[in-house]
Amino acid sequence: MSEAMLERRLLVAGNWKMHGSKIFVQEMMAALQTELPAAMAYDVAVFPTYIHLYDVIQQKPAQLLCGAQNLSEHDDGAVTGEVSAAMLADLGCDMVLVGHSERRVMHRESNEEVALKFRQAIQHQLTPVLCVGESLVERQSGQAFDVVWAQINAVLGLVGMEQLAQGVLAYEPVWAIGTGETATAEQAQEVHQYIRSQLAAIDDTIARRIRILYGGSCKGSNAFELFSMPDVDGGLIGGASLTAQDFMAICHQADKLSQGV
Ligand code: PGA
Repeated sequence: MSEAMLERRLLVAGNWKMHGSKIFVQEMMAALQTELPAAMAYDVAVFPTYIHLYDVIQQKPAQLLCGAQNLSEHDDGAVTGEVSAAMLADLGCDMVLVGHSERRVMHRESNEEVALKFRQAIQHQLTPVLCVGESLVERQSGQAFDVVWAQINAVLGLVGMEQLAQGVLAYEPVWAIGTGETATAEQAQEVHQYIRSQLAAIDDTIARRIRILYGGSCKGSNAFELFSMPDVDGGLIGGASLTAQDFMAICHQADKLSQGV
């Protein structure tokens, strides 16, 4: 087992996006009740839509973590259609995604808004999963590192290193999300290593503690190679989290790696 693995548990996180139904939740939770071992050396989480959160929390196995896909940057008040960090915590959520690229692009969420959401999550004892990643054009023009660092730095500037480390980072190159095109393990590692080295320049001990997930067409067939990289600490999974079979295939790879196989 590598030194990194001893410091950071792998996390397999399923982002259901705008998929699911009450029946889907029932079937998925029943399957995970049976298939997830009671004691695990890695973490597993699912991120349903807001309206399915309650059912998941009621029906999930105890060892499965549950999170929302978004939250408001506001405390409470006249903000129609939004859900606050306090409400998510009150419902029993453990985690929340912030700054997913689909929200950054379709809902024009800025780095500053994402930072405010991250802080809201921390203030309510939710673990934020901060999603960062460059577009294809940005990669092709050599800006991948700068874009990713600007996204992280906006949060760092607002909350500082200690609080950043209470969250999880997820590197999701936009060109690999839902396209079937996965970053190679080397491409992922290159960016993960860059992120960790930037953080280490600020505080080495904290940088070694922060989990950095990879997301973008991660599946059972490539999870082992990706998660084996020294700075890749698990995955944020979209499409392959929508059937228990596909999701468990990824969990099994995390299990093997966590046991040093
Ligand atoms: P994908 O999505 O696995 O379907 O590419 C990942 C994500 O958007 O979190």
